[in-house]
Amino acid sequence: MIPESFIQELLHRVDIVDLVDAYVPLKKAGANYAACCPFHNEKTPSFTVSPAKQFYHCFGCGAHGTAIGFLMEYSGVGFVDAVKELASRTGLQVPDDDHRQKEGGPRTVGLTEIMARAAKYYYEQLKRSPKAIEYLKQRGLSGEVAQKFGIGYAPDGWQNLEAAFDNYANAELQTAGLVIRNDQGRLYDRFRDRVMFPIVNQKGEVIAFGGRVLGAGEPKYLNSPETPLFEKGREVFGLPQARAALRDKDAVVVVEGYMDVVALAQHGVGNAVATLGTATTAMHVQKLLRQVSRIVYCFDGDAAGRKAAWRALENSLEALPEQKSIGFVFLPPEDDPDSFVRREGAPAFERLIVEAMPLSEFLLRELASHCDMTSAEGRARLVSEAKPLLGRLQTPLLRLQLVKRLAEASGFSQAEVERLCELRPVARPAPAKAPRRAPSLLRPLLRMLLQKPELAQLLPLNVLPEDTADARAVRRLCDEILAAGEPTPSYAALLERLRGSEDETVLREAAAELMQEPFAEDDIEAEFKGAVQRLIEGEHRRAFAMLQAKVQKLGVAGLSSEEKQAYLEALNTRSARAGTPNL
Ligand code: UTP
Ligand code: MN
Repeated sequence: MIPESFIQELLHRVDIVDLVDAYVPLKKAGANYAACCPFHNEKTPSFTVSPAKQFYHCFGCGAHGTAIGFLMEYSGVGFVDAVKELASRTGLQVPDDDHRQKEGGPRTVGLTEIMARAAKYYYEQLKRSPKAIEYLKQRGLSGEVAQKFGIGYAPDGWQNLEAAFDNYANAELQTAGLVIRNDQGRLYDRFRDRVMFPIVNQKGEVIAFGGRVLGAGEPKYLNSPETPLFEKGREVFGLPQARAALRDKDAVVVVEGYMDVVALAQHGVGNAVATLGTATTAMHVQKLLRQVSRIVYCFDGDAAGRKAAWRALENSLEALPEQKSIGFVFLPPEDDPDSFVRREGAPAFERLIVEAMPLSEFLLRELASHCDMTSAEGRARLVSEAKPLLGRLQTPLLRLQLVKRLAEASGFSQAEVERLCELRPVARPAPAKAPRRAPSLLRPLLRMLLQKPELAQLLPLNVLPEDTADARAVRRLCDEILAAGEPTPSYAALLERLRGSEDETVLREAAAELMQEPFAEDDIEAEFKGAVQRLIEGEHRRAFAMLQAKVQKLGVAGLSSEEKQAYLEALNTRSARAGTPNL
């Protein structure tokens, strides 16, 4: 377990505005910062970050959390990894790390270390292998670019990794996909006599390798198997190396091969990444479109490349939000990006990227190419083939564009195309909003506690009604605040303490309300006391009404002695306030 105090310290050190801004550029909006939400599609910004309270909230989809929560949601990492990531950004050391492994947390930490060590070993070996260096040189790579991508060399031989690890028989090496056990139980290195391309995730961790034979040989590339660290359809090669260029250009070029990425970087085209010998998936598209507004697919010029482009189109449709765009570049049949950029140079390549074919055009051309557009039947077929593709689009605007183009190409009217394709209005998944509750007296209390947790000292918990969600949340929040002691935890720290609890939803709602309308610091204490007073009075009224009912039914004699006393006291205070006895 990571101690609470460390989480508190960590949240104190990071600034959520800086953190979020690195992924989603923020604009100042009053006391807060705003952007279009990275967690759902939208045109107007409802994603808001509070610098004062160090949390984000999306008024569109309800996404809500701290800096830790943001990293978890954005990068899809777990709590511990998010904490580690933040800690390393702020130079803090996460305490009690070994403990976690004993508790059966994910074992990926050990694997990450193993992969890092292997990458270092291969990298060192490259320096000692003239033939591997010669191979890379002959492919036009400088030492600088080789270093940037951490390219290495796995020497020839069966058990070279024995030199890199104390215990070659450690089963983790097999889990990591570095060592293989054969049928006779003998262990040997997976990668032998290959140039090694490490695949690095967004956190900068090596999660897999691709190894290329130096000359001819089969397979040309040998890749890591899928491991707990590495899921092929999710990852791309070259992403961390491309980060600066992606920001700069707000566009990514997706290519097929490791060498394409590296060669493009060598020529100064830094914003390329490669899918790893698999088709482009919707997950890839989603991941990339979080970082840039535009994807340009640039696959090999051969038939396989064209097929890959079509697959990429199909898988992009459902992941394509409004205001993001996709283009396709088709190289000459004999080229891949590597050979093209080496022969023609970077400016020629960049020109191809700028002039990429829009998605809608590729879609229509491809469909039209196997329909006889001179006959009415052929044109009807075009529309019917477009139907499943249109159905995948989530954005009305893009669909409308396509419908228009289909209408032009087919000679049908727009309305006819829509009817033929059975298009209904795009059903967007309703944003996950918490159910609305009736406003209660407790909600303002909750908001005030979130703005100024110290106020918990002033709240007598016995006045809270038992049964409402808000009351439970107030009680829980006060418990946490009082239990934490000094220094009083911030909202972000409290949110992390209550992660996963049933009170989280209510707290998030209250925090979001607070973000829109914070209390004036000068008045908040008086206002809190007033609210507590009203609560106490309400509680008294309720208790009195109950006693009153009992008296009416059973007479004063029906009350216990304690109830009698309470009843009389209540009568006195009420009559003192009202001036006349209420009998
Ligand atoms: P290519 O065959 O187009 O290779 O495969 P390439 O990238 O142009 O490589 P060079 O220029 O010959 O060195 C494209 C990608 O497909 C995957 C790799 O990711 C490769 O980069 N691939 C290819 C494999 O995984 N295994 C293979 O045997 C071949
Ligand atoms: Mn190639």
